[in-house]
Amino acid sequence: MKYDIKVTKTNHSRISEVDFENLAFGRVFSDHMFIADYKDGAWFDFRIVPFENIPMHPATSALHYGQSIFEGLKAYRTDSGDIQVFRPTKNSERMNLSAIRMAMPELPADLFMQALDSLVVLDQDWVPTTPGSSLYIRPFMFATDDYVGIKASDTYRFVMFTCPVQSYYSAPVKVLISDKFVRAFPGGTGEAKAAGNYAATLQPVMAARKNGYDQILWTDGFEFKYLQEIGTMNFFLQIDGQIITPKLNGTILNGITRDSILQLLEDRGTPAQVRDVSVDELYDAYQRGALQDAFGAGTAATISHISEIGFKGERLALTPVDERPLSESLKQELEDIKLSRIPDRHGWVHKVAATVVA
Ligand code: COI
Repeated sequence: MKYDIKVTKTNHSRISEVDFENLAFGRVFSDHMFIADYKDGAWFDFRIVPFENIPMHPATSALHYGQSIFEGLKAYRTDSGDIQVFRPTKNSERMNLSAIRMAMPELPADLFMQALDSLVVLDQDWVPTTPGSSLYIRPFMFATDDYVGIKASDTYRFVMFTCPVQSYYSAPVKVLISDKFVRAFPGGTGEAKAAGNYAATLQPVMAARKNGYDQILWTDGFEFKYLQEIGTMNFFLQIDGQIITPKLNGTILNGITRDSILQLLEDRGTPAQVRDVSVDELYDAYQRGALQDAFGAGTAATISHISEIGFKGERLALTPVDERPLSESLKQELEDIKLSRIPDRHGWVHKVAATVVA
């Protein structure tokens, strides 16, 4: 279905104020944003407007009870100047799964895609050209009822804005294995991209930062034994040549970069093991000198090497990054697909300019 999106362009583009060579992640916002509202069981009033603050009633229920979900995806400029987005339909599907879990309405996939195409085409000059940079796209939805009682809101707003970005982590990351705090339990909301999942990690991560770590490698909260994810990324490791990633069990975000890596490994004839991975297995492999690689995978972070893992007061220093051919080659292959430098065997690339301008 074709949606009628009303476009109001800004009279004051801020693009000339931006230093595209030095982009701090998530601090620079493009000129426009897409908005849609939901009431009486339907989405309405589709519009692209200048990027600006959103006025709110103090009782806006998302602020009180956390019905708030988001997504993250990226648009890239290819060598020939085209603009393309990596696997956007996966984000639309995942946002709707998050919506269902959080008792929020689904957003039609074709509306998501039209909003994305229209917004990125309008702000196409904001898609950076420097190597390693991209336009990060942030769709999100939140409850808008002005009501203090606890119930699922009747009204919602969906917004999509964009930010030109460079890498999320500027260096390999140090992670601390959690043996005290928990991010998610089976039956909880860990698999949803819900705002509260991130809030729950902030205080433990602040404490970990004081000890020189960047993030926490979360474990199950029953025995603090099985590895889950890193909060900003899914977790992969390589032991004795075998790549392993924890299997999804409702507590782990179903990452699109994770899924892409699994597919690439299958294509290479070296499929990953997707199964429970225990802290003991990791520690034992480290002690035997068999832990060859560990990395995180996510949209914002792409593939980020892990340089150190903290565990029960010990700091496990991992293999130097330049001695990790597998994660380096996966990172390169993913980037080459995103930039159409090699064939897109799985139809992952969505050409934005061609789709809308044609
Ligand atoms: C993403 O990878 O897009 C996320 O949503 C996580 C956050 C680190 C920005």
